[in-house]
Amino acid sequence: MADTSKVEEPGRRDFLYIATGAFGALGVGVGAWPLIDQMNPDASVKALASIEVDISSVGEGESITVNWRGKPVFVRHRTAAEIKLSVETPLEDLVDPEEDAARAEKPEWLVMVGVCTHLGCIPLGEAGKYNGWFCPCHNSTYDTAGRIRSGPAPKNLEIPKYTFISDTVIKIG
Ligand code: FES
Repeated sequence: MADTSKVEEPGRRDFLYIATGAFGALGVGVGAWPLIDQMNPDASVKALASIEVDISSVGEGESITVNWRGKPVFVRHRTAAEIKLSVETPLEDLVDPEEDAARAEKPEWLVMVGVCTHLGCIPLGEAGKYNGWFCPCHNSTYDTAGRIRSGPAPKNLEIPKYTFISDTVIKIG
């Protein structure tokens, strides 16, 4: 009777299969690299991926809209009252609950993609019941942190990736 409890050690033939497979995979990787590298965006495209915005002339209570990757981005210099209103809003009143602090790196500067999360219209600033943004397409209203408060839009206005390069320049993207 054959001993079935014995586990077979890989033989020389198995080793050759394993080695061939490994080198084959490496060959595909090396062969694919020039093609993948060619598909990377060139420097001019990468430059458009992020923009620097000078906010030194945007006074308190004012906003500017900049174009980033083909989309409007609202940069609002919020007033103390707007910040207070947002901070004091109970999270349970929100459709898409988010703390004010999670939406603004510096409370006085709100940076958001200006595209309604319902069907993509561009909301109007300092408008609507919550004195934030109002989308006239189907009456969605956003508050002073760009959080959805009423209407069919399901989500808050998107916050893009951004960073303060200095006190007066924001890099978006
Ligand atoms: S697109 Fe804004 S409410 Fe419909």
